[in-house]
Amino acid sequence: MDNWDLFLAPYKQAVDELKIKLKGMRQQFELEDLHSPIEFVTGRVKPKTSILNKSTEKTSHDQIQDIAGLRIMCQFVDDIHSVVKLLRIRTDLNVVEERDYISNKKQSGYRSYHVVVEYPVQTRNGEKEILAEIQIRTLAMNFWATIEHSLNYKYQGQIPTAIGLRLQRAAEAAFQLDEEMSLIREEIQEAQAIFQKK
Ligand code: GTP
Ligand code: MG
Repeated sequence: MDNWDLFLAPYKQAVDELKIKLKGMRQQFELEDLHSPIEFVTGRVKPKTSILNKSTEKTSHDQIQDIAGLRIMCQFVDDIHSVVKLLRIRTDLNVVEERDYISNKKQSGYRSYHVVVEYPVQTRNGEKEILAEIQIRTLAMNFWATIEHSLNYKYQGQIPTAIGLRLQRAAEAAFQLDEEMSLIREEIQEAQAIFQKK
């Protein structure tokens, strides 16, 4: 790969555009004083070194699904399913794959809902379909994943057993937190509606 900036440009374009569009969805709910299933959105283009680590002889750069990566954080687990529905009905992108790590949590304790989309970017040379991975998760799932990710980085993927067990327990606690919040969801949303109007 001789020109990384050129290769990554459409991915950056896709991330920037999708961030604006997803934040726009949040604003629409706010304008109508409705609970937004989207709390906040982040996005990034995978750094060059991570792309090189991930691509092998079998998978070319273009096949990596998460060079363009978006994250949608939600307050409640139910919101995640609302967001997935919102994505499925959009006509400016095409959902090509869904991975439900909420019903099927990973061994590490990781939970999130992953959606891979095809998104067309307009370039000087015409339209280019870009794959983007959208991770949808609650704030609690995000807290856990962020911490686990930094520990994984520190230990280069070899987290000591004792810490790994702690993380699994922390994941269980995060799951319980989501459950508890779901039970008082209506109460919380009423309070937030009053708070917002103030
Ligand atoms: P990759 O080869 O990394 O793409 O894994 P995969 O294809 O088996 O799973 P998937 O693409 O659905 O998930 C990849 C992404 O999910 C990663 O880049 C992380 O952002 C996130 N992820 C998956 N598992 C874990 C985990 O155990 N801990 C954390 N912190 N993040 C995870
Ligand atoms: Mg993957």
